Amino acid sequence: DTSSLVEAFHSSLAFDQRLYPQDIAGSIAHATMLGEQGIIAQGEAAALVNGLTDILTDLRAGTLKLDPTAEDIHTNVEQILVDRLGPVGKKLHTGRSRNDQVALDMRLYLREESKKVQRLIKELLCVLLTLAEKHAATIMPGYTHLQRAQPVTLGHHLLAYVCMLIRDCERLSDAQKRANVCPLGAGALAGTTFDLAPARVAELLTFPAVSLNSIDAVSDRDFVIEFCAAASILMMHLSRLSEEIVLWSSSEYSFIELDDAYSTGSSIMPQKKNPDVAELVRGKTGRVYGSLMAVLTQMKGLPLAYNKDMQEDKEALFDVIDTVKGCLAVYAPMLASMTVKVDRLRQAAEGGYTNATDLADYLAKHGVPFREAHAIVGQAVMHAISLGKNLSEIDLAQYRQWHPAFNADLYKALELETCVNHRVAAGGPALQTTKATIAVVREWMASQA
Ligand code: ARG
Repeated sequence: DTSSLVEAFHSSLAFDQRLYPQDIAGSIAHATMLGEQGIIAQGEAAALVNGLTDILTDLRAGTLKLDPTAEDIHTNVEQILVDRLGPVGKKLHTGRSRNDQVALDMRLYLREESKKVQRLIKELLCVLLTLAEKHAATIMPGYTHLQRAQPVTLGHHLLAYVCMLIRDCERLSDAQKRANVCPLGAGALAGTTFDLAPARVAELLTFPAVSLNSIDAVSDRDFVIEFCAAASILMMHLSRLSEEIVLWSSSEYSFIELDDAYSTGSSIMPQKKNPDVAELVRGKTGRVYGSLMAVLTQMKGLPLAYNKDMQEDKEALFDVIDTVKGCLAVYAPMLASMTVKVDRLRQAAEGGYTNATDLADYLAKHGVPFREAHAIVGQAVMHAISLGKNLSEIDLAQYRQWHPAFNADLYKALELETCVNHRVAAGGPALQTTKATIAVVREWMASQA
């Protein structure tokens, strides 16, 4: 007998029990194929399918409890089947190993969960798009080095995140192409002597492809790693938006105000309204990266084929899925319910000389070499700072002392609307460009339905 210490140590039931729907679906497909191939009698296959269907129903209803001392979900479901059906239950595992079984379960599970994550990303995209549309003309400062740089619009800024999230969604679709391969028939590692029909099992489980190599089928978890990597990139994007939400909701910025339902108070400071959701998402990004590192490290240097190390992929993957879904679910309503302080955004864009580049461009368009124009405007900014004024508050006579190419129309060039709306090139902040981008994104959303 195995030591009870070892039994407790290597049991995965506590966490792999969430795979029971996939495990049973895989077994139903396997049993059906065994019957069709004449490897077991049709009547036996039907009994297995019915028995498995009943187990699924009972587990879903909560009327059947799993055995906490079982080694894993695969062993436990099979044991329940044998308990209920008698000897015919023992035929289910013909031509199969837990090695191809667990690889199948993980691929089935990931396929469903990946779609759920994508659905949540699209819900967040909807909220961001609505905000971008509403604020397509809401001027705000764009930043580099967290210093005010040039005027943009909130719509333009949010569309940057829209673009990131679309790529995140597509990365998940792309990873799915490689994950959506049926490994059943690989057995423990060397296939099987039974006349199985892997393509039929794949068809029953709607896999577009079967594994090309039985050792690869049971040995790799690259599909888990790819998902975790795509999830890590998604979280990296969310963490950046979160950082901005945290900054913007501070009284120093005061660009937005989070709804009371999506912020929290302090147990000691009565005035506090904290952006905990955004902070938690930022923090949970580290947790997702950690899981990616965990699976990469588990797989590193493993000799072919199956090794028990690979059981460790589950908690990491499940945690990534739960974490990402949790973050996305709370993010969309948090953004949808926040208040944007349009006047504060405008006021911030008016300070910080965000239109200085436009004044240099003005000179350059009047024939002054850009480098020279850059230096002249630098001088103008220094002067304005010394007076505590904006560039538009410096009079024309002063400008003409710096360069005769300056004329009264420079004040038009300095208007923030001009600065933004002249940036019409693809991807720029101009209102018409923003609207065109939104239309492209809406088309993408429609193509995803
Ligand atoms: N619980 C195991 C896992 O998750 C299932 C595969 C067991 N296979 C084996 N040869 N011990 O990896």
